[in-house]
Amino acid sequence: MTIFTPATSANLGPGFDSLGLALKLYNEVSITEQKISSINIIGEGSDKIALKKNNTFVNIFNETIASLNGKSLNYKFNFVNNIPFSRGLGSSSSVIVGAIAAAYYIAGFKVERSVILNKALQYENHPDNISPAVWGGFTVNIVSGDSVFTQRTDIDSNLKAVVVIPDEPMNTKQSRGKLPANYTMSECVSNLSHAAYLSSCFIKKDYDNLRLASIDKMHEECRMSALPELFRVKEVAYANGSLMSTLSGSGSSFLNLTYDDRAQALAQALQSEFSKFRVVILDIDNDGFNIKS
Ligand code: HSE
Repeated sequence: MTIFTPATSANLGPGFDSLGLALKLYNEVSITEQKISSINIIGEGSDKIALKKNNTFVNIFNETIASLNGKSLNYKFNFVNNIPFSRGLGSSSSVIVGAIAAAYYIAGFKVERSVILNKALQYENHPDNISPAVWGGFTVNIVSGDSVFTQRTDIDSNLKAVVVIPDEPMNTKQSRGKLPANYTMSECVSNLSHAAYLSSCFIKKDYDNLRLASIDKMHEECRMSALPELFRVKEVAYANGSLMSTLSGSGSSFLNLTYDDRAQALAQALQSEFSKFRVVILDIDNDGFNIKS
């Protein structure tokens, strides 16, 4: 079997740890039973020997299979990693969700996607990346006890993501540690009202007010200060037709959404201004992980 798990963009400005969407950029893992376990990696991480010795996907897959079947066999894993590491595009979530969903499939358990998501929450305790990797589209998430509660909606195909990917990685754990411990009442009210409004814009497919709706007061400025060119990325994006321009997850990538007919011009403007960053145009994924047998 082969599992395809999409990249994601979390927070979307004010929706810290709650909002996210999925992108058509996939990590692909093919798994076949074999006498001796083996790992082959193409793409991201192919040069990292450590990933062959201690591989998070394989560890979570084996743990999950063992918890379901009481035993784990030997498998050959072929990875095609297309999602850049530590750039705020959900590469860890794709590993977690992919490993759990693949394990349930190979163990012969047909379960609802919500089961996979709740299991994934045990490995990543904020749902804003794992949820769109499971469900696709735009997702609004809350955690209650050990469960994620999600509202999702498809995003129109005339909306494209123009993603700016710097070379500099940003470590989510470290960057969370640098955020303020307390926020003012007005910062809280601002993020709450903007996140609620942003969610309504996506659900009603009313995309013209995304710029106003995506204003954040909690994390972006603090994180972008580690790579100040990102402030210019936002300015250039808005000057060239971006509907919304937000730090993707904890960074360092920037997510811009725009209409289909403006995507090429926006990507060109960003690429010519930031020649050392990668700029890619991606479609939105409305399906979540996908298994082919
Ligand atoms: N909500 C998370 C954060 C997303 O901003 O730290 C990154 O995984």
